[in-house]
Amino acid sequence: MNRTNLIGTIIVVALLNVSAWNARAEGTKVFSPSNPPAMKPIASHKTPAYQAAKRFKHGVNLGDYLEAGNGWGVKVSAAEFAEMKKQGFDHVRVPIAWHRYVGRAPEFKLSPEIFAKVDFVVTNALANKLAVIINIHHFNELDHDPQGATDEFLAIWRQIAAYYKAYPKALTFELDNEPHENATTALMNPIYARAISEIRKSNPHRTLFVEPAGWGGIDELNKLVLPPDNNVIVSVHCYDPFFFTHQGAGWVGADFKQTGFQFPGPPGKPLVPDMKLEPKNYVLARIEKYNTLPRDQNPSSPLAFTGKLKFIHEWSDYYGRPVHLGEFGAYIKADPQSRANFYGAFRRAAEAENIGWCIWDWSANFRYWDKTRNEPMPGLHDALFGKTP
Ligand code: BGC
Repeated sequence: MNRTNLIGTIIVVALLNVSAWNARAEGTKVFSPSNPPAMKPIASHKTPAYQAAKRFKHGVNLGDYLEAGNGWGVKVSAAEFAEMKKQGFDHVRVPIAWHRYVGRAPEFKLSPEIFAKVDFVVTNALANKLAVIINIHHFNELDHDPQGATDEFLAIWRQIAAYYKAYPKALTFELDNEPHENATTALMNPIYARAISEIRKSNPHRTLFVEPAGWGGIDELNKLVLPPDNNVIVSVHCYDPFFFTHQGAGWVGADFKQTGFQFPGPPGKPLVPDMKLEPKNYVLARIEKYNTLPRDQNPSSPLAFTGKLKFIHEWSDYYGRPVHLGEFGAYIKADPQSRANFYGAFRRAAEAENIGWCIWDWSANFRYWDKTRNEPMPGLHDALFGKTP
């Protein structure tokens, strides 16, 4: 071998090694904790939060019900709670717009009307042995001006906590759904701490759920700072791959109007972009990848969420905080087979990481339950409760 060949060979071998090392490094990324030092890990994994998390494995959101505005809510009958239990769910998460039922500052007195509505859900759920999460949902004033709306937030929780203090421990409180806009995790940390200490005055043993900002974003977990309370479960949401789960959903903007995405990709027949929607270049590039990349690299595949779920597991183990996946799901405009494939793949991936999940939603636009036929939507029962293949 002459000198030039030898140098060439060394370079090629070195390059091959670097890429092999990179590939290995990709597959075995080591979790490194990066929360502010004030977030202290809890060493025990036998805390009340971990005990409680065992009741919150397979849940369903009562979406578009008590958080809905006038004219777009669903109706729920007492019999449907028995049906939820029969289907296999062990808990129900109840989004509630309490802030629409408050009187004037500084009391922010909640009206009996909202307690009556929530009582109907809570008593029927508990009677059917379903654990319950009640939350504050769509509290836009808090998102817009977290500090300005803190007094109202605390007053609402003070009243809810006092009202339900004698209820069984299967009833739990989630402080705020999907903080976003100006409600950053850094700003919400001290607000949550104040709410937790308010609630603890009347409910020393109630399990609480707390969501990071960024819409309950998994990427925000590493900004959380929780007080050392050992009965707090962290809750996050994940709608990835978003262009699949929210295809055609009117409230998420022009870039998600294209429908026809299947799960998993690539499709048998390429999806033709609808040019009437004037797709941006990045939307066209996404469609191209969806049409051409093999399953294990396709953007419409479990690749979109498995790494995130793994991160949750590692973060949770390190900090000693059980994490609950409070919302995932696919809008009704995806084809039924793809919806079933998606719900099945997602819940299996969550279970593989030991994460309890709660689908969005029971009977609204991401529905599990078909009220007109009194049965689950096609394939969804098996997807959620069938044997893991
Ligand atoms: C919102 C719903 C929405 C769902 C999926 C929830 O957090 O409250 O209105 O349908 O997310 O986007």
